Amino acid sequence: MITLNPTDRIFLSAPHMGGAELSLIQDVFATNWVSPAGPMLTQFEEDLSKLTGLTHVAALSSGTAALHLALRLSGVASGDEVWGSTMTFMGGVAPILYVDANPVFIDIEGDQFLIDLDLLEGELIRAEKNNQLPKVVITTDLYGHVVDGSRVRRLADRYGFVWISDAAEAVGAYRDGRHAGKGADFVILSFNGNKIITTSGGGALASDNGRQIERAKFLATQAREPAAHYEHETYGYNYRLSGVCAAIGVGQLKVIEDRVAARRNIHETYRRLLSHVPGLSFSSEPSGMRANRWLTTVQIDPSQTGFSREEARLALEVENIESRPFWKPMHMQPVFEEARVVGGCVAEKAFERGLCLPSGSAMTQQQVEQVVAVLDRLGRK
Ligand SMILES: Cc1ncc(COP(=O)(O)O)c(C=O)c1O
Repeated sequence: MITLNPTDRIFLSAPHMGGAELSLIQDVFATNWVSPAGPMLTQFEEDLSKLTGLTHVAALSSGTAALHLALRLSGVASGDEVWGSTMTFMGGVAPILYVDANPVFIDIEGDQFLIDLDLLEGELIRAEKNNQLPKVVITTDLYGHVVDGSRVRRLADRYGFVWISDAAEAVGAYRDGRHAGKGADFVILSFNGNKIITTSGGGALASDNGRQIERAKFLATQAREPAAHYEHETYGYNYRLSGVCAAIGVGQLKVIEDRVAARRNIHETYRRLLSHVPGLSFSSEPSGMRANRWLTTVQIDPSQTGFSREEARLALEVENIESRPFWKPMHMQPVFEEARVVGGCVAEKAFERGLCLPSGSAMTQQQVEQVVAVLDRLGRK
């Protein structure tokens, strides 16, 4: 018997089960649909479609797999340009390399850390003149903020690129009454263990284009043509989600609104209890946006606080509290040293100053106060 010790560490974003998951897993066992097929998988896809308003969904083994399929389905070929926000997680860009395309990184704006749409538009105008328009633009709804989808859609239609919305961190987030990603050609979702809801590990590709999602399911199951001997006209992947993981997802979706409410409440508590510390700033939420506040982010201006982002992180660590710097911008990563970047200073500054605070929806008020106490103490030194 493996002994799993509970810990009193305060994690950045721990899984938070809703209560129905175990009996849904038992249903899957009772009917023997544990494999990546069957009614629970279909149920999960239907529930995701209801939540997002995207009419077709393929449940997959990860968000990274979803992005890989989206790029393949966009027809990206070797040497094509794929543009995206420089501030993101590696899983949101690595598939650009899987399809042998060239990434171009665009800077962010500084309020919600989303791709800078003015900068993007300027670069598209320039690229059109030089006949070098990108095949795909990936927007990333970072930390649960949501990009202005109406504007991105207009740009996609005007400049003829495929819009992939990486909403891995934005499940349950809305802008102008529409779920993150609605209006995009493809939407990536993640249910990795640290996300607002989890299937232990998993993801999904969603779209309003049913034909493309059918094709995604085909590619995700090794591209088997309908022949008993497994005929292959192309190659695929083993990317489908298992029935067991789908059962966890069905359970988690029952509580998604509670999870968003809890994270938003934690965010408001940090904001209120730290408002007296000069030099700390929280991301904004423009009217019409309902961020899911997956992670509460704080920017630390050392000239005002007297302490740096790294000093804050280490002080929290001493108290057994996990926090994390912002994602290191992709144009600063050694693996992308040859990639083109448009701007980049805003992301660099956000990386230098930005810290993600523990935000798990199961956190107690007392735990939030423990985090606040560390930052408060640093501010008084
Ligand atoms: C912005 C972003 N894109 C893509 C991914 C990849 O998702 P997954 O971990 O499910 O592969 C993640 C997170 O994990 C993410 O945060």
